[in-house]
Amino acid sequence: MKKKIIVTGGAGFIGSSLIDKLLSKNIYKIYCIDNLSTGRLEFLADALKNKNFKFINDDLSSINKSINYFKNTEIIFHLAALADVKKSYQQREKHYENNIKITQNIIELAIKNKIKRIFFSSTASVYGNTKNIPTKENDNFPIQNSFYAAAKLSSEALLTALGESHNIKISILRLVSVMGPRYTHGHLIDFYKKLSKNKKKLYVLGNGLQKKSYIHIDDIISGFIIILKKQKKQIEIFNIGTDEKKNVKNSVQMITKYLNVKPQIMYENKKTGWIGDIPNIQVDCKKLKNIGWKAKYTINESIISTLNWIDKNKKILK
Ligand SMILES: NC(=O)c1ccc[n+]([C@@H]2O[C@H](COP(=O)([O-])OP(=O)(O)OC[C@H]3O[C@@H](n4cnc5c(N)ncnc54)[C@H](O)[C@@H]3O)[C@@H](O)[C@H]2O)c1
Repeated sequence: MKKKIIVTGGAGFIGSSLIDKLLSKNIYKIYCIDNLSTGRLEFLADALKNKNFKFINDDLSSINKSINYFKNTEIIFHLAALADVKKSYQQREKHYENNIKITQNIIELAIKNKIKRIFFSSTASVYGNTKNIPTKENDNFPIQNSFYAAAKLSSEALLTALGESHNIKISILRLVSVMGPRYTHGHLIDFYKKLSKNKKKLYVLGNGLQKKSYIHIDDIISGFIIILKKQKKQIEIFNIGTDEKKNVKNSVQMITKYLNVKPQIMYENKKTGWIGDIPNIQVDCKKLKNIGWKAKYTINESIISTLNWIDKNKKILK
């Protein structure tokens, strides 16, 4: 009998890539639950042809707890979320519904259906403006500066409490910004869209000196798979990022070179691009490396891979 896995948010950028990887192993039956708010069925085109895959269009923020498709599930990869730091300070209730409330709903369904294990995709943004760079999982960090990160940290807390109280194995993954095929949101797509409309001028949020770490989607997926196999403790938090950082100006240079355009670039005179922007992010990944993980892509390779994908999938820009 194949192990049953549920992937929430499986029609999204990361979820659909994870589903393809899990299906390729031919040992799992995968159920994807997604309300298609930001996800796309076309990312599941291959999965939908696979007899070990089932797509369920449902909204996890208002899910009926007596639904039966969670029955006999062993593992949940909980990735569904509203993944938008920039809008989170305006859309506070929407962020609560789609980040905290859905996690609580998953917890209730997990208890009811005796689920054994939950993975949760959190964010390196929970570290806020920490001075400990690269940041370790157990470093102290200051207050939260976005509703998005606050909601992620709240979900982490709820899930670790579940791990303690109900003997459910919990894996929390704090990801830096992810790039690569199926990338649908983030600064590269913003720049690409702006430059497609106007090649002569590019407005950049912030002074361009924000230093960020980015990671390729394949490296994220290999992180999930290694943790699936090798996590020993009941509750663990893992960072996933690269040992590099890149400032926004460098990304702008790469994209203008890629598109062969020479716009006048207008930066703002402030360190952050939006409320909740963190001008210096890098995580320490020794913990994950110690169980055998290694990033294969440099940031430059991730940027080029993303731009190639956007270029071939321009309809995504609409
Ligand atoms: N992409 C990144 O750079 C990044 C970085 C850190 C953490 N994360 C986290 O990883 C996860 C996946 O991110 P992504 O980049 O694939 O985002 P995404 O927007 O592509 O995917 C999120 C998916 O969740 C679904 N969804 C949202 N609300 C839902 C609801 N109420 N019910 C059912 N489905 C719902 C969306 O339709 C979408 O398919 C998110 O939890 C995000 O916060 C992403």
